[in-house]
Amino acid sequence: MKLILIGFMGAGKSSVAKSIGKKLSIGVIEMDDLIMKRSKKSINQIFNEDGETRFRELEIEVAKSLVKKNKCIISAGGGVVINKINIDYLKERGKIIFLKTSFLEISRRLKDIDNRPLFKDKEAAKKLFISRQKLYEEYADLTVSTDGKSVEKVAYEIISQN
Ligand code: S3P
Repeated sequence: MKLILIGFMGAGKSSVAKSIGKKLSIGVIEMDDLIMKRSKKSINQIFNEDGETRFRELEIEVAKSLVKKNKCIISAGGGVVINKINIDYLKERGKIIFLKTSFLEISRRLKDIDNRPLFKDKEAAKKLFISRQKLYEEYADLTVSTDGKSVEKVAYEIISQN
């Protein structure tokens, strides 16, 4: 089983990936962690010092490096859908799961968090959210809504459908 979790920032991809990984004893891969390892910088640093374009290049490199992986849960960054090539790489041996969350719930979850460069300006983030929804829907093999649900519940829903 190879599952790739996609969805907007704050959808719970990392937490749900961890929970599924633990329940099924499968390794969890955090794409943002691999990007930080490659660049030896934090996500904020990459955006501030090198710009978003560089971040997206690194994201594509990381997606490519995961093509041959089997049996894992991958938590992708929220912008992974911007470049279709990422989806082609990730889908190769896996199934894409969209964690669907309302903007209201996302705003609540990210209220006190400042490691999301693209969530600093809430108005801009809302626009990004709207423009990305159709991409998440288009690429998903399965969509699971997360509003009002615990991480455990979302994890069980995904496991029961795979
Ligand atoms: C991004 C989402 C972030 C991270 C980067 C860009 C985006 O990941 O990859 O800040 O473009 O939506 P999370 O979705 O895990 O917050």
